[in-house]
Amino acid sequence: MGWSRRPLRKVRKAIEHSFVVVTMWELRGNYRRMVGFSRATSDRAFNATIWDVVVHPDFQSRGLGKALMKSIVKELRREDISNITLFADPQVVNFYRGLGFRPDPEGIKGMFWYPDSRY
Ligand SMILES: CC(C)(COP(=O)(O)OP(=O)(O)OC[C@H]1O[C@@H](n2cnc3c(N)ncnc32)[C@H](O)[C@@H]1OP(=O)(O)O)[C@@H](O)C(=O)NCCC(=O)NCCS
Repeated sequence: MGWSRRPLRKVRKAIEHSFVVVTMWELRGNYRRMVGFSRATSDRAFNATIWDVVVHPDFQSRGLGKALMKSIVKELRREDISNITLFADPQVVNFYRGLGFRPDPEGIKGMFWYPDSRY
């Protein structure tokens, strides 16, 4: 999937309609910049899906990605949501595995519809 350029208007809408948004910031005096981001959409009862997990390259490999994930999962658990899913790029499957996520549980496959499909 990766991070393609997306229209800002739609990014804003996606964030506004997310159930949980978690951000991490570097603070230095009056200067601040976002160094971590993740969000989850949800039916607010049973299911949530985590999207757009990203840590600024300067801050990777310091445990922030793990902290970001723990924070968003904790927030979803606090809302009593038990089915938490995500879509992992191949190179990050083991990152999520280390956090307790399992690929294809009981053989279940994620399936995608694309606009060039038959209907
Ligand atoms: C994936 C990403 C969020 C990880 O964040 P990070 O801050 O570098 O990760 P952490 O330092 O918290 O690593 C936590 C653990 O996962 C491991 N890990 C990190 N990236 C990994 C990877 N790509 N594959 C396997 N393990 C990984 C670390 O070694 C560490 O293991 P430990 O707990 O045994 O020490 C970050 O690399 C990133 O933003 N990548 C670009 C965007 C991206 O690919 N997002 C996911 C899209 S599905």
